[in-house]
Amino acid sequence: MKRILFTLSAFLLSGAAFAAGGGHLPYSFEPDVGNLPSVQRGARNYMAYCSACHSMDLMRYSRIGEDLGIPEDILKANLMFTSDKPGDTITSAMPADATGWFGRKPPDLSVNSRARGPSWVYSYLMTFYVDPARPAGVNNLVLPGASMPHVLWELQGWQVKADDAAHHGEEGHGGGHGPDTGLTLAQAGTLSPEDYEGFVADTVNFMAYAAEPGRVGRVGLGSKVMLFLLLFTALAYLLKKEFWKDVH
Ligand code: HEC
Repeated sequence: MKRILFTLSAFLLSGAAFAAGGGHLPYSFEPDVGNLPSVQRGARNYMAYCSACHSMDLMRYSRIGEDLGIPEDILKANLMFTSDKPGDTITSAMPADATGWFGRKPPDLSVNSRARGPSWVYSYLMTFYVDPARPAGVNNLVLPGASMPHVLWELQGWQVKADDAAHHGEEGHGGGHGPDTGLTLAQAGTLSPEDYEGFVADTVNFMAYAAEPGRVGRVGLGSKVMLFLLLFTALAYLLKKEFWKDVH
């Protein structure tokens, strides 16, 4: 009996561990959409730093308010910069003809964290670096030639490629935490590297939530189903023993 339960739970756990495997990105990030305070902070970060350029056409403010437990007045005052109707979807503040500003229209980010994967988005936000050859003066490790400016530079500071840093006689200090980014922090931002990582983690948690708002409930349902199956298996086993007791 014990063994059956044990095997079954080991099987379930190994499935979860397998699903968490990642590709070859400088950072790997497993979002935690159940961490409500983090997702709330991420919503604030996103609205303040990203919604000027990026829309989330599939997401309504009111849904964010309901899911994240944010009352309407706080929602309106702190998160709604491009509309005052909670039923509206999140549009970007950019005029439609602004595509030419960056050479590429900032893409809609409704499902971006699902399409690219959370580790990709996390790595993207971590790995902007100074590159004078680019029009905006920055480049990105996971999206080479990206036309997005480093909008979080005040928080993170400026990273440079390690060989450039050596060239300028700069010493990296704490930057490039990622295993193999080859980037060092040449000029500190207002946040420490650890706090910047936290900022990015919150933001990606919010994007992961927004990509699949129903996921929190679904994960909850999944564990209930698993529990039911475990109990059911136990009952079936006991029943079988009972039936076959007298046969031998
Ligand atoms: C000043 C405008 C602007 C702001 C603000 C901005 N972005 Fe961007 N973003 C862009 C542009 C332009 C691109 C297209 C880059 C390209 O493909 O070359 C882009 C691309 C992206 C991509 C890659 C999409 C993909 O799959 O190719 C992600 C992810 C992203 N932005 C996230 C963010 C986040 C998160 C924020 C807020 C912290 C943000 N952006 C703020 C302009 C902006």
